[in-house]
Amino acid sequence: MVAGAVVRDAGDGRAELLLAQRAYPPEVAGRWELPGGKAADGETLAEALVRELREELEVSVLPGEPLEQRVLLREELTLVALWARLLGGTPRAVEHHALTWVDAEALTAMADRDELVPADTAWIPELLAALRAP
Ligand code: CDP
Repeated sequence: MVAGAVVRDAGDGRAELLLAQRAYPPEVAGRWELPGGKAADGETLAEALVRELREELEVSVLPGEPLEQRVLLREELTLVALWARLLGGTPRAVEHHALTWVDAEALTAMADRDELVPADTAWIPELLAALRAP
């Protein structure tokens, strides 16, 4: 499994992160996640991320380094997040309920309200550090 930590420059020196609100299954519907999906056989994580975000968000992204934290979802299923930059397109919620760009303050508020998909909370410290970097 690969997910994308898509960041953009908000213009005023701040960075923003793209979050997607899950539409299913019921246990996590309404919660926010880093968008992504499963790598197909023979696909690298970077290739899978490019394909998944094209399908789910109709954007093209440039994948970068992995976040340090890896999340074990269940046996044989590890979730890796890659930093990514938008190359083209405006994100559209094809499979999600909604999309939003958050800064460090908004991400903290969502985490405090328990609005993130449980697995993705492992990335909060790294995400906040990146969003707060000058
Ligand atoms: O569409 P489908 O539910 O089959 O797959 P998915 O959205 O690619 O997610 C597969 C599994 O990864 C699910 O258990 C999701 O809850 C989990 N996931 C996650 O915990 N955090 C993400 N950022 C993406 C997926």
